[in-house]
Amino acid sequence: MKRFASIMFVAAMAAIIISACQTETNKRYDTRWAGETMEEIIASIENQFGGFDQTMIETNYRYNELYWAGYDSNWGYADYHLEKIVGSIERGFVRRPAREAYSAQFLNANAPQLMETIEAGDRDAFMESFVRFAGSCNTCHEMHDVAFIQVIIPEKRTSMVKL
Ligand code: HEC
Repeated sequence: MKRFASIMFVAAMAAIIISACQTETNKRYDTRWAGETMEEIIASIENQFGGFDQTMIETNYRYNELYWAGYDSNWGYADYHLEKIVGSIERGFVRRPAREAYSAQFLNANAPQLMETIEAGDRDAFMESFVRFAGSCNTCHEMHDVAFIQVIIPEKRTSMVKL
């Protein structure tokens, strides 16, 4: 009898949990554009974040700012952009894990080497290191079948920031 009661108790608990889960998935949300169900909301937010191209649009902007920051010996601004490039690329890997392949040279060698020249405030070393840094952008493009994206050393000033 005691055993029967405990089976009934477990069954009742299971029924409560299952019905709680069902209401969770059926729950409708009132959002501006993201959708109504949790599944729709997550899918639309993921789509809005975009893929690695969005990471690269940000990287490209910061790459240009970084170059002119070093050119001007504006080391605070250079440090700021290099940090943000690395952070942006790492967040990009969360969204597109396949893009992490072939990134080691860029992240573990060229970016830290460029950072050393920024920390040292050495403009000549920065200019030299920047060429290798740009080269490792292009190596990654070649490895990921987008060799048609070749970045160059910026030639014309477009940065609005100047010390
Ligand atoms: C981990 C590999 C990797 C590294 C490192 C990398 N890229 Fe890219 N980049 C890509 C891939 C892959 C694409 C194509 C994006 C896509 O298909 O989602 C791309 C696309 C681009 C684009 C075109 C973006 C667009 O849609 O308009 C630019 C510009 C670019 N990268 C600049 C750079 C610069 C500048 C650097 C170095 C500071 C760099 N990339 C470093 C992999 C990389």
